[in-house]
Amino acid sequence: MRVAVVGGTGPFGTALAVRLREAGAVPVIGSRDRVRAASIAAELGVEGAANDAAVRAAELVVLAVNADAALDTARELRDVIGATPVLSVASELRFTEGGVLPSPEAASLAERMQDELEGPVLAGLHSLAAASLGAKEPPDEDAFICGDDRDAKELALELVSGLVSGRALDAGPLKSARALEGLTAVIVNLNKRYRAHAGIRVTGIS
Ligand SMILES: NC(=O)c1ccc[n+]([C@@H]2O[C@H](COP(=O)([O-])OP(=O)(O)OC[C@H]3O[C@@H](n4cnc5c(N)ncnc54)[C@H](OP(=O)(O)O)[C@@H]3O)[C@@H](O)[C@H]2O)c1
Repeated sequence: MRVAVVGGTGPFGTALAVRLREAGAVPVIGSRDRVRAASIAAELGVEGAANDAAVRAAELVVLAVNADAALDTARELRDVIGATPVLSVASELRFTEGGVLPSPEAASLAERMQDELEGPVLAGLHSLAAASLGAKEPPDEDAFICGDDRDAKELALELVSGLVSGRALDAGPLKSARALEGLTAVIVNLNKRYRAHAGIRVTGIS
């Protein structure tokens, strides 16, 4: 499966691209800067292109830009993305003296992204730290995907099942992204408190 990783030059996108390639997919690292994409992609042994070119040939788009830029980037790429499914991995976090807080917005970033795009939006992978995703072995964690379009969700679950040694789990409708994005704040607080790369494994599902 050809997967565009928009903003794939960051720590999350590069780790994801390598893991996708190892899982048998064809990742294309996207960047606002075509030359930067090509250079980082060459180091990793994958393809690289400007964001719009990466998206054009993709069966799935992972929007892996900085969270503050996620909605603007979705808007900018709307016409090129067309009906292609988009996986939103971003969480808006607020860093305060008391700890890391989830977004105060009622709707998740992924739901707001859906308002901007024609094709189906999925959300997931928030609990997979770049460092864990980029480790030698696939992380011993479960990966969650939520979304309202059944076919798009099946596609994403199939892809994501190759990224972790745990399971790819269907976390329900796109509104579940409110919890998945918020959970990132919990994970970052755990990481800070215990100097860890915390991840999630769900019990009770065989
Ligand atoms: N880091 C993690 O452990 C982790 C875990 C789970 C999910 N996530 C999510 O994954 C996404 C990427 O995380 P990251 O840590 O790799 O982020 P990052 O390094 O802050 O940003 C990733 C890429 O976004 C692009 N970008 C930055 N500002 C932009 C702007 N104003 N407009 C368009 N593109 C812009 C840059 O690519 P170019 O300059 O090359 O265009 C940058 O390399 C985030 O949404 C984050 O919430 C991260």
